[in-house]
Amino acid sequence: MPDFDKQSYWHTRFESETAFEWLIPSSTFMPLLESFLKKLPGSDANILHLGFGTSDLQVQLRTRGFANISNVDYEPLATERGRRLEEAAFGDVRMQYITADATRLDSVPDISCRKYHLVVDKSTADAISCAGDDAVLAMAQGIHRSLADDGGVWISVSYSAFRYDIPQLPFDVEVITKLPTAKTKATDPDIYHYCYLLRPKPKKA
Ligand SMILES: C[S@@+](CC[C@H](N)C(=O)[O-])C[C@H]1O[C@@H](n2cnc3c(N)ncnc32)[C@H](O)[C@@H]1O
Repeated sequence: MPDFDKQSYWHTRFESETAFEWLIPSSTFMPLLESFLKKLPGSDANILHLGFGTSDLQVQLRTRGFANISNVDYEPLATERGRRLEEAAFGDVRMQYITADATRLDSVPDISCRKYHLVVDKSTADAISCAGDDAVLAMAQGIHRSLADDGGVWISVSYSAFRYDIPQLPFDVEVITKLPTAKTKATDPDIYHYCYLLRPKPKKA
């Protein structure tokens, strides 16, 4: 199994990879996000996109009218490429690209100074889970502290039906959609990806 939790793995990969969508294309994710985007306070809502890699989800979110997006990845090649992708699509760079560890969000001033109305990740918690449940819990705790008190939520797409079965997770967890994966033969087993809605449990005083 590759070291999906290691920055060195992603660095090597992004030296040659320029575009790749994990689990589902962003164009499949966007309709799943739509009901949450509609509920945001406005087009200036703060969105946190964790582990964007070489996906184009942030471009699709900006196309949908949102630009207050903090795109975070711990691999600098991803942040460089993200800026280039946005400039190529829109002629300018309005979103934020932050090179940072998603398991240590509190230590990132550009993130801890904001409150986010929506946090999204597509298979980033999966990569982080290779370092164990404690790493996913650290990511979740940082997200919990970053979410806006008035209805902020985290939407996460994962290949695992058990991704958030973690004691002490500070979220109520719901699977909002099970996405069947393609089969190569009719006899292949049913395999799904899971779109989770994570609502923060009340913050402790
Ligand atoms: C499985 S890829 C998903 C990429 C993208 N979200 C997609 O759907 O195609 C995981 C991404 O998370 C990033 N990543 C992994 N661990 C991270 C961490 N601790 N902090 C920030 N980014 C991380 C990797 O660099 C990679 O871009």
